[in-house]
Amino acid sequence: MPSPRIEVFDNESMVAAEVASMVMMAAVDAINQKGYCTMCLAGGGTPRVSYQVLSTPPDRDQIDWESVEVYFGDERCVPPESEESNYRMARENLLGRVKIPEDNVFRIQGEMDPEAAAAEYCDLLAEKFQPHEGLDVCILGMGTDGHTASLFPNTAALKETSRAVVANHTADGKPRITMTPPFLNKSRHVLVICTGEEKADTLKQVLQGDPDPDKLPIQLIQPKTKHLTFLLDAAAASKLD
Ligand code: 6PG
Repeated sequence: MPSPRIEVFDNESMVAAEVASMVMMAAVDAINQKGYCTMCLAGGGTPRVSYQVLSTPPDRDQIDWESVEVYFGDERCVPPESEESNYRMARENLLGRVKIPEDNVFRIQGEMDPEAAAAEYCDLLAEKFQPHEGLDVCILGMGTDGHTASLFPNTAALKETSRAVVANHTADGKPRITMTPPFLNKSRHVLVICTGEEKADTLKQVLQGDPDPDKLPIQLIQPKTKHLTFLLDAAAASKLD
């Protein structure tokens, strides 16, 4: 994998502090440059602490949230009030704690038919982004199987070359909606947050093993700007040379 920037911290809360700081700086930079920032959130459990830091002073108050647009890298096919919903997790840990206008939050409609929801999100992104324009800052996580967003090993979404969002499925067949590598790789900054011992073996393969993106889809994340940073705690980084 072309060498991303790797930052290792003693513990999860230090990772979260750095994530919040990097997101805040990217947001302030984008707002200063073009008047607004496009921010993409990851689901799962890892980003929760980072979202809490980002929505607490001082980081919270450094960002003009009215100039931020929030998107989602993927969503489970559940209603927004479901405990599985990535939108709900973001709402509880970030969006409900900052003064971001409702109209600036672009939820993937997990309650819809997956193909229809993916098509609708594709249309939204085509409306909001110029053809070669990507997200200003994109937060991703990584599963122990090397997936990111809902780009799971050996699934069709890994081969998508044109659509920005597709329906996909997990290894055990659960439907998902996900942004695709072509769109994610237009991002200006991609931050991958990875913490915990359980991710160490996979990170070793992803960052220091042979390229095998069908098996390790996160290896497909190679933003053209090369601004790709893995933010790890010592436990997740424990197998790296
Ligand atoms: C999701 C996420 C997914 C997540 C990884 C890691 O919908 O679950 O978008 O890609 O980032 O599964 O999940 P954890 O952070 O819970 O380990």
